[in-house]
Amino acid sequence: PMAEELFGLNELSEKIRRTYGLRKVVVVPGDCEASPLTKRDLGREGAKALLGVMNQEDTVAVTGGSTLAAVAEELNPHASASMKNSWFVPARGGLGESLEFQANTIASTMAKRVGAQYRLLHVPDLLSDDAYQSLVQDRNIQEIVDVIRRCRIIVHGIGDAMEMTRRRRLDPAAAQEIQREGAVAESFGYYFNEQGEVVHRMITLGLRLEDIIRTEIVIGIAGGKDKATAIHSVLKFGHEDILVTDEAAAVEICRQI
Ligand code: G3H
Repeated sequence: PMAEELFGLNELSEKIRRTYGLRKVVVVPGDCEASPLTKRDLGREGAKALLGVMNQEDTVAVTGGSTLAAVAEELNPHASASMKNSWFVPARGGLGESLEFQANTIASTMAKRVGAQYRLLHVPDLLSDDAYQSLVQDRNIQEIVDVIRRCRIIVHGIGDAMEMTRRRRLDPAAAQEIQREGAVAESFGYYFNEQGEVVHRMITLGLRLEDIIRTEIVIGIAGGKDKATAIHSVLKFGHEDILVTDEAAAVEICRQI
């Protein structure tokens, strides 16, 4: 029998919730790699999970990626609460990915959809040492980075490590090094191995590891069978509160645990 027949969606989510000690796990039916409808459902449940934890005066940091873009598409104004005193910011610099998937674009789309405020960080995703040293001195950049680092909520995607090195067009030597370090997942500009340890970090401006660790609510949104190992790795890292995933990833994660 297929695993889907053995485990209902509720059992899958409960097993994942207990295994990794999460506050909440939502599993949508299907495989978002195979179906745009599943990707939309993932976006809708991600949007719901975010609105469910947001206060009226909140700061939300968001990462880039196609899954977060789907969340932004599905975000609708809260029926009762006004969000005009809440802020959306990108988790880090994001110029480099295609425009629609950049964290800046996603932060501004989300803010506009719910009537909140936003601030953007116009710096490249990957920085040279020199560029980093001069950008951190800039008053405007310091100001927005401070806002980002004080966020109460993070909403982020999770990617397969090697796939993300290709998407970010890392040079082959850097990609090889990341592979040699045993990275299986990428999220917030950090690469994680299967045990959930950070094995590689990019020089970027925005959220740092210590911010992620102390942020009150971290929401990970990722689906697709091929992301199971990457999702497992980020859950092992141990700072997620809410996971929104799909059946294909959930079945595969449960098979591995
Ligand atoms: O860091 C992870 C990626 O941003 C995930 O991107 O949602 O398009 O797979 P994706």
